[in-house]
Amino acid sequence: MTQNNTQPFPRIDDTAIRERAWKTPPARHLEGEERQQMLEKVRRLLKEQDAVLVAHYYTDDDLQMLADETGGCVSDSLEMARFGHAHPASTIVVAGVRFMGETAKILNPEKRVLMPSLEAECSLDLSCPADVFSQFCDAHPDRTVVVYANTSAAVKARADWVVTSSIATKVIKHLAAKGEKILWAPDRYLGSYVQKVTGADMLLWQGSCIVHDEFKASALAKLKQAHPEAAVLVHPESPDDVIRLADVVGSTTQIIQAATELDNPTFIVATDNGIFYKMKQAAPDKLFLEAPTGGIGASCGSCAHCPWMAMNGLENLAHTLETGDNEVQVDAETGKQALVSLNRMLRFAEAEKMAATGEANIASPA
Ligand code: 13P
Ligand code: SF4
Repeated sequence: MTQNNTQPFPRIDDTAIRERAWKTPPARHLEGEERQQMLEKVRRLLKEQDAVLVAHYYTDDDLQMLADETGGCVSDSLEMARFGHAHPASTIVVAGVRFMGETAKILNPEKRVLMPSLEAECSLDLSCPADVFSQFCDAHPDRTVVVYANTSAAVKARADWVVTSSIATKVIKHLAAKGEKILWAPDRYLGSYVQKVTGADMLLWQGSCIVHDEFKASALAKLKQAHPEAAVLVHPESPDDVIRLADVVGSTTQIIQAATELDNPTFIVATDNGIFYKMKQAAPDKLFLEAPTGGIGASCGSCAHCPWMAMNGLENLAHTLETGDNEVQVDAETGKQALVSLNRMLRFAEAEKMAATGEANIASPA
C-alpha cells in the first residue's frame, strides 16, 4: 500500500493480497466413509468441549449442516456476532474468516474462541493496516469514524462505530441526520453504495473484496436479458455498475430472505456461491444462477468463492476442537476499545428492533 498525502484517501495496491489469496489452498473435501467418520467426530467433540459452532454462509456445506444440526448457527456476520455472544457455551468455534473470530473474542473475552484456521483472512481487513488507518483518522479529526466489520480488532479499536452490511445504511442515515461527516473504511463499493442511498458526506478508504470485485456488469446485463423472469440479488461489496443492475441489494441474510419473499422463479446472485446451500433450503422451488465473473475484462481468480472461507473444512474443525490449537487471541486493551464501537452497533440494532436480518434495499440507487 502507498499513501499519497495530496489525495484525500490512501491509494491501495492490492496486487500482493490477490496473489496471496489465489495461492491459498482450500481445505480437503471429504467424501464417503471418511466424511461420515469426521462428521461424527466433530459432533462428539462439540459436546465434550462445551462448544457451539457458528458458521458463515460462505463456508462448506458440511460445516453449515453441522452448525445447524448441533444447535449452532449459520448466518451473516452481524448475526454471527450476536449469536455467539448470547449463547451459554464456554467455547465458540467460528467457521469463517479471522475478523469474525476476533469479533467473537472481543464480545466474549471470557470465552475460548477457536477457528479451523487462523490463516483465513479477508482482503478488506488486509487492505486496511491499523497504523496507516490511524494516520488517516488523525488527518480528519472532524469526521466520525465508521468501519465495516471486515477489519482487524485494532482498526475497530480506532473507530467510533462498527457496522456490517446488513445495518450500514441505517447507521449512516442516523449519523448523517445528526449532521455528522463520515470517514468510512475499508470497502469502497459498500461505502459508495451507502453514500448514494443516504446522501451522507463520506470520505472512503479504497479497499475492496477480491471475490465480489470480479462480478462483471456487462456479462450480468446479458444474463439478465436472457432471463427476463429473474430478479438480480447483489451483495453491496460488488462494484457500482453491478449494484446498478440489482433488484435487491443486501447482506447475505437479506439476499436469502429476498429469494423467499419475491415471486420470481429465478434469481441471479452476485455473492459467494457458498450461499446457495442455504438459498436452496430456503426456496427449494426456485432456480439460482451465479452472476458471471467471466466476460470481457474477466479475471476469475476466485470464480465467486472466497479462498479464505474455503480454508475451513471438517479436518481442521476436528483438529481445533481436539487440540485447542488456533485459539483466537485479542490483546485485552485493544479488545476493550474495540468493544465500544462494536457495542454501539449492537445497541443500535436492538434499539431499531431490527430483525436478525435487517432490511434489504429492494431496488438499487440511481
Ligand atoms: P455479510 O455480513 O453480508 O455476511 O458479509 C460478510 C462478508 O464477508 C461478505 O463478503
Ligand atoms: Fe473478505 Fe470478500 Fe472473503 Fe468476504 S468474500 S471474507 S469480504 S475476501
